[in-house]
Amino acid sequence: MTMLQLNVKILRFNPEVDKKPHWKEYKVEAPDNAQVLDVLHLIKWYQDGTLTLRRSCAHGVCGSDAMVINGRNRLACKTLVHDVGTKITVEPIRGLPVIKDLVVDMEPFFAHYREVLPWFINPDAPPLRERLQSPEDRERFDDTTKCILCACCTTSCPSFWANGRYVGPAAIVQAHRFIFDSRDEGNDERLQLLDQRFGVWSCRTAFNCVEACPRDINVTKAIGEVKKALLFGTTDF
Ligand code: SF4
Ligand code: F3S
Ligand code: FES
Repeated sequence: MTMLQLNVKILRFNPEVDKKPHWKEYKVEAPDNAQVLDVLHLIKWYQDGTLTLRRSCAHGVCGSDAMVINGRNRLACKTLVHDVGTKITVEPIRGLPVIKDLVVDMEPFFAHYREVLPWFINPDAPPLRERLQSPEDRERFDDTTKCILCACCTTSCPSFWANGRYVGPAAIVQAHRFIFDSRDEGNDERLQLLDQRFGVWSCRTAFNCVEACPRDINVTKAIGEVKKALLFGTTDF
């Protein structure tokens, strides 16, 4: 472990007193294996208690500390100092209203999530034990079950920045998880919801979402499969 002197610039904004966001600089000493989240805590706890950020698990599970670190969407708890160097910039994720400093209003993001009916739909009574599925059928949506709804993908997407009505890659990933689940019966409704200008067709394959995903989900592949299901009228391909 090596101790480093860090220069950390944070985009600060308090709507109660500021007309617009401004950069504030902090000097911090931290080990090279510290998380950027630890660095933000050191600033908040020992230098400036007014710094506002959102986090919970600190282990890449809850998805609550997505931010733009050195120009790239990442989770602060999954980003180590030695990944980003001694000059660190931190900004709130883009395309959602800033509430304060690094905390954005996630409601527009979750509204899009709810739009795609992200729950299991099957009106048939379940069998006595469980609804069986082959390993091959389970594999079809394995990747998209890993989503933690952090919004790194959607808030790195130029189509979403251009028009917030686009449901965004995260919502499509969540829809994919159910569309390709052989036990689910809600496909017609879900696919119809996504077969619109602000559904999958707003995706221009910019690929930022794949770069941004901290769970390494192949987001564009999932979006492509949903587009294919719409074009072919089936998920059997
Ligand atoms: Fe986050 Fe990846 Fe899910 Fe997008 S697909 S919300 S980047 S975990
Ligand atoms: Fe946006 Fe990803 Fe499509 S960045 S345009 S959702 S490939
Ligand atoms: Fe939970 Fe980072 S704090 S993912």
